[in-house]
Amino acid sequence: MKIELKDKKVFFENKGSKKEIHPFWLRERVNGDDFVDKRTQQRLFDPTGLKENIEIDHLNLSKDFLEITFKDGAYTKLAIENILKEFSNINEIKFIDKIKWDSTLEDFNNFEFKDNIFEEQEMYKALINFYKYGFVIFKKVPTRNNFIVNFANSIGSIRRTNFGEFFDVKSKPNPNDLAYTSLPLAPHTDNPYRKPVPCIQMLHCIENEVSGGYSTLVDGYTVTQELKKKFPDYYKILTEIKVRFQFIDQSVVLEDWAEMIQLDENGEFKQVRFSPRLDFVPLIDRDKLELYYSARKKISELYNSDKYRLEFKLSPGDLLMMDNHRLLHGRTTYDANEGNRFLQGCYIDYDSTEGKLKHLKRKFNL
Ligand SMILES: [Fe+2]
Repeated sequence: MKIELKDKKVFFENKGSKKEIHPFWLRERVNGDDFVDKRTQQRLFDPTGLKENIEIDHLNLSKDFLEITFKDGAYTKLAIENILKEFSNINEIKFIDKIKWDSTLEDFNNFEFKDNIFEEQEMYKALINFYKYGFVIFKKVPTRNNFIVNFANSIGSIRRTNFGEFFDVKSKPNPNDLAYTSLPLAPHTDNPYRKPVPCIQMLHCIENEVSGGYSTLVDGYTVTQELKKKFPDYYKILTEIKVRFQFIDQSVVLEDWAEMIQLDENGEFKQVRFSPRLDFVPLIDRDKLELYYSARKKISELYNSDKYRLEFKLSPGDLLMMDNHRLLHGRTTYDANEGNRFLQGCYIDYDSTEGKLKHLKRKFNL
């Protein structure tokens, strides 16, 4: 990638293809003290007030900088590196390659908590691993009540839901969700009925005195890629049919329609939703429904298969952070008479982890 000049025009050359950079694009990026606030990097001028036919008066290209004087009198010195950055995707989270995993995964992405970890390079490594594997576990996180709120807000901002700012996971009388019992929970994604679905779930283990109650994780990315390869018809229908997910309690009715396997604009993996106690398929043609039910049965078999499921016990001080758009989670049953099992959970969104990741990348020049 490089910048070239010809006849008062600026060109961007990449792998043999050369394109002119619009003068307005460059004019919007003038960066002197008169044009940009140094601290916030926000413009001090409104580009929508500029004339559209902005022209370049003078250009000078050196090894590291492009100097431009525009006909309206504005002058700027732009770092070539910054211009090239805008044409590459290296800063995009979606270009962190996902690593598929199944029950054979041995490295559990553990990171030891320290008071200042949120501003350290260690946190950058943890977040990169989060995007690669869809989960990360922090060890030795203080088991103080509500510490999870502190933790979440040190990465970004907590995402409040109808379960509150955070929630206590322990068996309790008259629960409004099966999570608050000692029953086993098959792999599922949380809150598929919310729009948008909370992106990341955190679970902090405060007490775990029971012999059961193992946490389970399944990689929805691995499973759906497997389904695509072996059962393309099933994969296709689950990416096409929007089903209704619903949650009802005494104070709220939440509903959303979405595919069980949602793809992005390029047809690539975006999100899975799976919660077979809460999904309702619309009344469509019998043949299609037959295919849909077979597909749902198959993906349920895969999600519940030993082949894909990680099973492990959270110890007091462990904090599991998992991607609720990619991973399914659950737990095995336990006997509440054996002792206490007490976890606290909350949600944050991707802007929190992305914002922190980019901040640390900038801070440590990574
Ligand atoms: Fe859950």
